[in-house]
Amino acid sequence: MTIVYNEQSSSFHLYNTKVSYQLAIVNSKYISHVYWGKTVGNTHTDSDFPMWDRSFSPNPSGSADRNFSLNTLPQEYPGHNNGDYRESAFAVTCADGTFSTQFEYDSYAIKEGKAALKGLPHTYASKDQEAQMLTIQLKDKLKGLKLELMYTIFEDYPIITRSVKLSNEGSEPVEINKLLSASIDYDHADFDLIQLPGGWGRERDIVRHPVHRGVHKIDSKRGTTSHTYQPFLALCDPKATEHTGDIYGMHFVYSGEFMANVEVTEYNHTRIQMGISPEYFNWTLQPDEGFQAPEVVMSYSPDGLNEFSQSLHRFYQKHLIRGQHQFKERPVLMNNWEGTYFDFSEEKILDMADQAVQLGIELFVLDDGWFGKRNDDRSSLGDWTIHREKLPNGLKSLAEKIKAKGLKFGLWFEPEMISEDSELYRAHPDWVLKAVHREASVGRDQYILDYTRKEVRENIINQIKAVLDTVPIDYIKWDFNRNMTEIGSQDPSISDGTVTHRYMLGLYEVMETLTTAYPHILWESCSGGGGRYDPGMLHYMPQTWTSDNTDAVARLEIQTGTSLVFPISSMGSHVSSVPNHQVNRTTSLKMRGDVASAGNLGYELDPTVLTADESRIVKKQIDFYKNHRQLIQYGLFYRLKSPFEGNNEVAWMFVDENQTEALFFYYLILDKTNTLRPRVTLTGLDPHRRYTVKEKGESEPKVYYGSELMYKGLFVQPPLAESETQSSYQINGDFRSVCVQIKAVD
Ligand code: DGJ
Repeated sequence: MTIVYNEQSSSFHLYNTKVSYQLAIVNSKYISHVYWGKTVGNTHTDSDFPMWDRSFSPNPSGSADRNFSLNTLPQEYPGHNNGDYRESAFAVTCADGTFSTQFEYDSYAIKEGKAALKGLPHTYASKDQEAQMLTIQLKDKLKGLKLELMYTIFEDYPIITRSVKLSNEGSEPVEINKLLSASIDYDHADFDLIQLPGGWGRERDIVRHPVHRGVHKIDSKRGTTSHTYQPFLALCDPKATEHTGDIYGMHFVYSGEFMANVEVTEYNHTRIQMGISPEYFNWTLQPDEGFQAPEVVMSYSPDGLNEFSQSLHRFYQKHLIRGQHQFKERPVLMNNWEGTYFDFSEEKILDMADQAVQLGIELFVLDDGWFGKRNDDRSSLGDWTIHREKLPNGLKSLAEKIKAKGLKFGLWFEPEMISEDSELYRAHPDWVLKAVHREASVGRDQYILDYTRKEVRENIINQIKAVLDTVPIDYIKWDFNRNMTEIGSQDPSISDGTVTHRYMLGLYEVMETLTTAYPHILWESCSGGGGRYDPGMLHYMPQTWTSDNTDAVARLEIQTGTSLVFPISSMGSHVSSVPNHQVNRTTSLKMRGDVASAGNLGYELDPTVLTADESRIVKKQIDFYKNHRQLIQYGLFYRLKSPFEGNNEVAWMFVDENQTEALFFYYLILDKTNTLRPRVTLTGLDPHRRYTVKEKGESEPKVYYGSELMYKGLFVQPPLAESETQSSYQINGDFRSVCVQIKAVD
């Protein structure tokens, strides 16, 4: 890995064995994007973009060359009002009301390692040898403004990260109206766009379509990343598949309002951009102040989507996620939410825990309803004290009793919220996040706390610490169940345009404080399921509740979409009871187990009502998972058959790095009468090695070469789940699955 500055051509080349990224200083002033893709040699790193005189593409003042126009030059960080009519990367308004800027190249610096982004989540290098950083400084001398474009290249990953800082070196305040974190120009538009939109209960659909003229924008104006769009987009070769083709992705390390867009221009050029949503953003920089924009992870794959995902998974595991649980096997948990909702007592929870121990569960999580006087979702958020009627002996006593059974103990919090019916609200109604003198909308009958205010953050930190300092807690689920409205603060010193970003900085500070103070705790983020599943949260909390939808069929899509960008070790996936509470569908316990086992396995049901047969199946699922979770959580994940391509069958595979062990999961959604099952070709194995292949539960393995499994394939015939409890082996029925164990013989 290295960053080279070529003095002769005034150009930079960041490269390692997997990726090259080149940019050049043009006309001593402008920074032009040159190349991003597969590693190339180092001779021509300068801007070789052929410029022609084009009508209505103006030439900047001082340029005698009519061919030169910012409207056609591929740029790294485009401004506006300078002849480039495409979408800009930034915009400011100066104290005198003017908004024109002319930034010019000033200097550069190359450093070993990677600097932290203070107060923001960021990717990191544990040692200086793991990364190198390039910072390019641009200045607008008239306005006294400095822009720093920051790039990091990591050893061994096809990944570049980017961020931007704007500083006010002048004597007057400057308003930032827009400051995106990355922008890239391509000199063609032969691309498909891939994005991950969704909604509550159906997060992260993989949506793919050709790019087209105009601007296609995805964003969040909800104060949080939200279920609606993931802060991610990728451009890919229209012919790209899971196994072939170029993919270029951008993923935002931020949990607040964002935007990403793709613009195809009159010249059939493509510009992609990502950053904080400028829609309601307005930040005043006083003299000597700077604003640091969050980071964008730019990931490239020359070999299709599987490899794209695998690089991101490994990169996030090693360079984004932190702490004691970073590479630890994740415990099999039981969460009481769908089993009891708000209706539980100490006795009920202890009965559930007793049964959980029998099944092999390792962590018992007490979800919503343990605090204040919370018997439904209308009260008590903000009052993090024990609900004495439900738990008369207190939380410490309950936790100790659960731990005495050999389980770990976990607890639910929703620390950013306040109910109108709460002691906290009665004492501090002005702590609700809302515009002054405006009525606040409710969502799930609750308000959001104003985390822009220090006293609010301190109150919540102290309340949570009071619990954590007295109760032995091993895991916390951190929930967030509504989006922002009437955005503003009741503290008149905080202007509306800064609120959502200040909120995020406040939240990051709270999470940093608590996760640092209690490093042994496994933190799981949640927002009505996967409404805030983003790289920003992953920096503090190594796992996320993927979706409130626990239906096995719905989960095939949700987990496939999620796997495009997030590591399996971050993905909570639970078996729940049937008929499913979100879609009312009844699927087999086998299929529910096989789907949930492809993530961080948990159970979210009342184990005291399981039949003896069901308990036996669950116990077997948990045993099996414990023996394979290292491979599942930290192995290479492959999507073989996607539910987004009209498939009635879905197939996933996990392979270890040494290609000695693999698991193949195959799911049949609806059965069709009178059909024959096709062969499924596997992937990721060593073609020259021989492997034993054994269906879970079967005793006799068969031996195949890796080449046979990958090129000829396997016929899969998922049995009816009930075959586990019946002697007859039936071949028809919906919602069936197969899990095949593959082990190298040689
Ligand atoms: C939403 C979460 O996604 C659920 O799992 C559960 O914790 C509820 N909130 C509790 O209110």
